[in-house]
Amino acid sequence: MSIEIKPLDVAKRGACPAEFSFGATFSDHMFTQEYQVGKGWHQAEITPYHALSLDPSAAVLHYSQEIFEGLKAYRNPNGNINLFRPLQNCRRFNRSAERMVMPQVDENFHLEALKELIKLDHAFVPDKPGASLYIRPTMIATSPKLGLGASSSYMHFIITGPAGAYFQGGFNPISVFIADKYRRAVVGGVGEAKTGGNYAASLYASEEVAKKGYSQVLWLDAIEGRYIEEVGAMNICFVYEGKTIVTPSLSGSILPGITRDSILKLAPTLGYEVSEQRLDVNQIVADIKSGKITECFGCGTAAVISPVGSLCFMGEDFVVNNNQTGPVSKHLYDQLTGIQYGTVADPFDWIIEV
Ligand code: COI
Repeated sequence: MSIEIKPLDVAKRGACPAEFSFGATFSDHMFTQEYQVGKGWHQAEITPYHALSLDPSAAVLHYSQEIFEGLKAYRNPNGNINLFRPLQNCRRFNRSAERMVMPQVDENFHLEALKELIKLDHAFVPDKPGASLYIRPTMIATSPKLGLGASSSYMHFIITGPAGAYFQGGFNPISVFIADKYRRAVVGGVGEAKTGGNYAASLYASEEVAKKGYSQVLWLDAIEGRYIEEVGAMNICFVYEGKTIVTPSLSGSILPGITRDSILKLAPTLGYEVSEQRLDVNQIVADIKSGKITECFGCGTAAVISPVGSLCFMGEDFVVNNNQTGPVSKHLYDQLTGIQYGTVADPFDWIIEV
């Protein structure tokens, strides 16, 4: 299948604005393709960014049959554009699709669509330090029907937009609240799929803790309410004694983050040990108190590496590294973003240059 490209008139095309924030500014074009059971994927096109027209009975609007992804493109020192691990990202999209009974997309075709879209909208890839082009592939169920069951038609679309730091404070420690009342996901459920419902389910608790002054919720497992899972917008890592990076093992209800995976592969090459474990919240709190945990940070595509300065558990705030950004978080941030922006060698072949 080929992609039909219907670009905006050159005269109408925009460029990266001087000011932008995460997820609020969009590039000129978008990719879409349609799927119908019996017909497969068809009508692949890149068109000017536009509102979607959906039947009000479209399955996604009622039963949330939806998946999405997040990846980024970076301006490299040659002025070209680096895509970071786009195939891993597409594979996770397909795993989410399988869990949500949605069709698979062809990896190579998805990558071609991404490249074409980015070539057309290259002017939106910022060249400011710390900024990048955020890419949001999405699939929605479009069958007009209210009977509960998998849809027979779908739309896959990709939108992009320039993005700066996800958190307002930039690369500075955030405070998290360890959920005591609410749970995000259960093993056997859809917690490891990147589906909108997981994020909708997190909003009530996020709003509640925001009123108390915390930026994010740290979720515990839903069965015992005892094991650390992930933060609202990212995975979580703890640094022991400045040398060992520990993160919860993928329990079945945690999102398998690509930044998380990149840290697990990158950190040993920088001299750190890494470990994936079932992490008991009581032990974590004890290790923060005793000073064994020297740093804590979240990691995700949007959040990159985000230092955590304090964790509130059962009404008490536990401060890590004097609420300062620690050297390990900074080292990992510099190396990872160096690979992404093309200023540090990429021994992993994570970058695809467009
Ligand atoms: C990402 O990091 O790409 C995500 O999808 C998380 C979202 C809450 C911004």
